[in-house]
Amino acid sequence: MLDPFTKFILRNHDRVERNITVLFVLSFLVVSIGGLVEIVPLFYVQNTIEKVEGMRPYTPLELAGRNIYIREGCYLCHSQMIRPMRDEVERYGHYSLAAESMYDHPFQWGSKRTGPDLARVGGRYSDAWHVEHLTDPRSVVPESIMPPYGFLAKTPLKADDIAEHLKVNAIVGVPYSEEMVANAQADLRAQVDPDGDPSGLEERYPKVKVRDFDGNPSEITEMDALVAYLQMLGTLVDFTTYEPLTEDNLR
Ligand code: HEC
Repeated sequence: MLDPFTKFILRNHDRVERNITVLFVLSFLVVSIGGLVEIVPLFYVQNTIEKVEGMRPYTPLELAGRNIYIREGCYLCHSQMIRPMRDEVERYGHYSLAAESMYDHPFQWGSKRTGPDLARVGGRYSDAWHVEHLTDPRSVVPESIMPPYGFLAKTPLKADDIAEHLKVNAIVGVPYSEEMVANAQADLRAQVDPDGDPSGLEERYPKVKVRDFDGNPSEITEMDALVAYLQMLGTLVDFTTYEPLTEDNLR
């Protein structure tokens, strides 16, 4: 037994399909309702990105490393988003928060995992391991199919334009101050110089790791920048004190 409405539709749908005006008006109605249902609630949520303690913009060296990560297409095999499912959380750590990629332009979430997720790889291995692995992945992981990137250790980092990179990020909303832009060159050098005075850098970028990342103190290479970037991934938010936003602590 069909209800009267279904019967009506079945009897008349060919008229709708043959009359372009009626079809357009009815489609428009349906799409509008769908749109309203999705868009209107957004005006009533307080924020879409929860503020999380610890997030700061990338240091100039980390940003240079991130640019190399993008240039080399690491994102084609690696994602940077841990999904809130048990197998992911047990393997990679706390699921990724929206705030953790709020200074990423463009974000590196990715949708393809030929290799593991890298959102929390920071601090998991030593710098020497990363250098060895990037130079010859199979020397540390025999079954690896990752390509080698040994040339990074031999390529001096081209960073004379790093202040411009900070400025462009500031235009799209990353809170780089004028002081950060003015000190970009100096901060980049300070981060790979364990014998220097990193106090200014540390003040501008809390939790920054200062050391010679590629094990070659005589020059700043692309390897320095890339390893500095990998070693900070997922290390900014302290998950021992982090409390997720719920209905209860929202107020
Ligand atoms: C063709 C795919 C591919 C590309 C491109 C690639 N990787 Fe990988 N990567 C892998 C695979 C597979 C593994 C797992 C085996 C291993 O550890 O080598 C891996 C592992 C890693 C690991 C260790 C992760 C962990 O938790 O054990 C790091 C770090 C890494 N890759 C960084 C990079 C960086 C940086 C780049 C770009 C310069 C890159 N990868 C490009 C496939 C790739």
